[in-house]
Amino acid sequence: MVEFGLIGKKLSHSFSKKYFEQKFIYLNLTDHFYHLFELKEISGLPKLIQSHPAIKGLNVTIPYKEEIIPLLNGLDDIAEKVGAVNVVKVEADKTLSGYNTDYYGFKKSLLDWISPGELKALVLGTGGAARAVCTVLSDLHIPYIKVSRKKQDDILTYEDLKTDELFLKEHKLIINATPLGMFPEVNTHPDFNYELVGPEHYLYDLVYNPELTLFLKKGFTRSASIKNGYEMLHLQAEKAWEIWSV
Ligand SMILES: NC(=O)c1ccc[n+]([C@@H]2O[C@H](COP(=O)([O-])OP(=O)(O)OC[C@H]3O[C@@H](n4cnc5c(N)ncnc54)[C@H](OP(=O)(O)O)[C@@H]3O)[C@@H](O)[C@H]2O)c1
Repeated sequence: MVEFGLIGKKLSHSFSKKYFEQKFIYLNLTDHFYHLFELKEISGLPKLIQSHPAIKGLNVTIPYKEEIIPLLNGLDDIAEKVGAVNVVKVEADKTLSGYNTDYYGFKKSLLDWISPGELKALVLGTGGAARAVCTVLSDLHIPYIKVSRKKQDDILTYEDLKTDELFLKEHKLIINATPLGMFPEVNTHPDFNYELVGPEHYLYDLVYNPELTLFLKKGFTRSASIKNGYEMLHLQAEKAWEIWSV
């Protein structure tokens, strides 16, 4: 038997479980199982690993992508750079290695869509996903500014975007790395003046459910190019499988 699973605090519906269970069927891996592990605290991880000796890999979701790091034995270079882990490999000797496949998924999906050129970006949100996005943008030499609800040094607020139109005029790539617009809150969207968006803008939403969020709909109405998080989601899952399989 070989086991995998997703750890998080609240796991009502999971893309990963469906994705990997379908993969096991497709590859005829009848002894492979994927579980949902709801942990009240990340400190429950060692006990979980102990009680499931067949575990080979874990996906990690909110709110543990950063909290899990001190419990791991090592990080690969990208996870170290991002400062967040969404994939854990349980090595043969039971040591735990952390990876960040969100970085890989975002980078590949972005480069399949745009050529960076002279683009500058706004990154909406400052959570784990935004950290992976910002690391990719830095590595691709795409200048960016983060946008948050809280005023902090070097970070804009949504109010700043409203008071100075230049931010939206000069930053043509706008990336939603907040959960705004995600099912079931489909009527929410990042709060800025969409009238300033035009055909030369690119709106990338990390949200993948629904396929067309209000953020993307508003961009599309203004003739911007749009992309949702679906391709990133698949790419990050495939990369996780590759990591667990070697
Ligand atoms: N497509 C993919 O493969 C993929 C991969 C990873 C994540 N995601 C998606 O990306 C999104 C963000 O993920 P995450 O793990 O970074 O989530 P998160 O930590 O829960 O939230 C990210 C950030 O969004 C901002 N935010 C949260 N609630 C908000 C609200 N009501 N209004 C405005 N801003 C709000 C916060 O930044 P401030 O406090 O600074 O405002 C927060 O740090 C989720 O929808 C997730 O499903 C997709």
